[in-house]
Amino acid sequence: TKIFVSRDAASLALGSSQVVQRMSEEAAARGLPLDLVFTGSRGLFWLEPLVEVETSGGRIAYGPLKSSDVADLFEAGFLTGAAHPLRLGRMEDEPYLARQTRLTFARCGIVDPLSIEDYRAHGGYAGLARAHSLVAQAVVDEVKLSGLRGRGGAGFPTGIKWDTVLHAAADRKYVVCNADEGDSGTFADRMLMEGDPFCLIEGMTIAGLAVGASKGFIYIRSEYPHAYRTVSKAIEFATKAGYLGPSVMGSGRAFTLEARLGAGAYICGEETSLLESLEGKRGMVRAKPPLPALKGLFGKPTVVNNVLSLATVPWILAHGGQTYADFGMGRSRGTLPIQLAGNVKRGGLIEIAFGATLREIVEEFGGGTVSGRPVRAVQVGGPLGAYFPASMMDLPLDYEALAAQKGLLGHGGIVVFDDSVDLARQARFAFEFCAAESCGKCTPCRVGAVRGVEVMDRIISGIEPEKNFEVLEDLCSLMTDASLCAMGGLTPVPVMSALTHFPEDFDKAPRVPV
Ligand code: NAI
Ligand code: SF4
Repeated sequence: TKIFVSRDAASLALGSSQVVQRMSEEAAARGLPLDLVFTGSRGLFWLEPLVEVETSGGRIAYGPLKSSDVADLFEAGFLTGAAHPLRLGRMEDEPYLARQTRLTFARCGIVDPLSIEDYRAHGGYAGLARAHSLVAQAVVDEVKLSGLRGRGGAGFPTGIKWDTVLHAAADRKYVVCNADEGDSGTFADRMLMEGDPFCLIEGMTIAGLAVGASKGFIYIRSEYPHAYRTVSKAIEFATKAGYLGPSVMGSGRAFTLEARLGAGAYICGEETSLLESLEGKRGMVRAKPPLPALKGLFGKPTVVNNVLSLATVPWILAHGGQTYADFGMGRSRGTLPIQLAGNVKRGGLIEIAFGATLREIVEEFGGGTVSGRPVRAVQVGGPLGAYFPASMMDLPLDYEALAAQKGLLGHGGIVVFDDSVDLARQARFAFEFCAAESCGKCTPCRVGAVRGVEVMDRIISGIEPEKNFEVLEDLCSLMTDASLCAMGGLTPVPVMSALTHFPEDFDKAPRVPV
């Protein structure tokens, strides 16, 4: 009997290796063979550690498990899918998963992340095979047709970016994957890299063919050692199998990949400082223009895309751009892998077509707060995203709808807070975060963030409120207008949203939204 257990960072943190250890001991004591298959996570973290047993009726799941449950599970005969209080049934029938549209994450938690055979058996490399049969422009056009927009946060159309690189004349071009996932509450890049790394590799290879690049780099944040190991191994296996190297799939076209580790700076998730860091320099933001698409890594035209954007490309090529574009709303096409975290009962990965409302995510998927207290605020889009009150839960998740409410979708992270949150302190935290993570290149951010902490301290202490609110608003508009990159430019978003939607926390009368 095959037993599938997740070994990604999230499952390990929740104790999956202790459960596996106990299972091996118990099986040995009972003289039973144990055929363990290590997978990535399904992304239903409140059910981890989760094991799935292969039966004639599909994979039957049990969870969340503790080491102390293992003997009891064996006693109940879980190896045949027998009844037990922790038996969950088939994961496909679990409403949290059944309601999702898993395209990018279709294989995550199902396949052995380091088995190319498994990857192929689940549709892997069909996209690359199709890309091989097309000319470069046709590959780019397919991505354009899909409407795919950059999943790192800015939402720039991926196909248009690729077109710029394809038509840039140069002796050498690069594909760089931004896996410096730094947003609070986000984990989708990590889950994908640990659960389905060949999908990212395939997407990057397609990008290489499409724009004429023969070399790619995956820049992984230093906090992700498991992802780094899995991706490095997967690159090695894909190379051995002929999917990477001097002649990709016997096509005569070269594409090679290297994984690189960052050094712990949030700002290296900004594409130009990531490129500086890849070149071996300190991660400082470069002024744009020139765009990386024209002058990127080592001064050459470079595709810089987030993990999720690249990992969505194999599906698009395999199933067609139009099929992907059929999901979604407005100008946000396809699916968004939402990462639900914070004070929420059922946190995890929710891949769903654009247009789902915050209420669906937080209440129906999330099941409310873990503390049992009312939801008071959600922060959407990472530390630079807006705080929205419970009264705005009908907001659809779509790039334009969020922007219209002075927020951003970012990388799809949603962090839930109950009514014990103090939004004035969260506003202070936004400045504090910016002060700690600023690269220091421009004054509005380097100095503004520190002044922001000071002014918030005065506001929180009730010192000269009128004057200090004026300073705060001045500072925010200066940072918005004059910062060189999104770090300083977006820090006012959480601050002003907190002030607009939760004025009572600032000890100020409600006012019209700014
Ligand atoms: P941006 O709007 O300047 O650029 C978006 C992308 O489009 C860039 O790759 C840029 O080079 C490219 N681009 C723009 N015009 C182009 C053209 N004409 N041709 C080809 N390419 C073009 O946004 P930026 O500063 O790169 O990203 C900001 C976003 O990053 C924020 O909205 C935030 O949500 C997100 N973010 C994500 C984090 C994460 O952990 N994933 C962390 C922090 C911020
Ligand atoms: Fe650096 Fe901040 Fe200026 Fe961005 S806004 S370039 S992080 S100092």
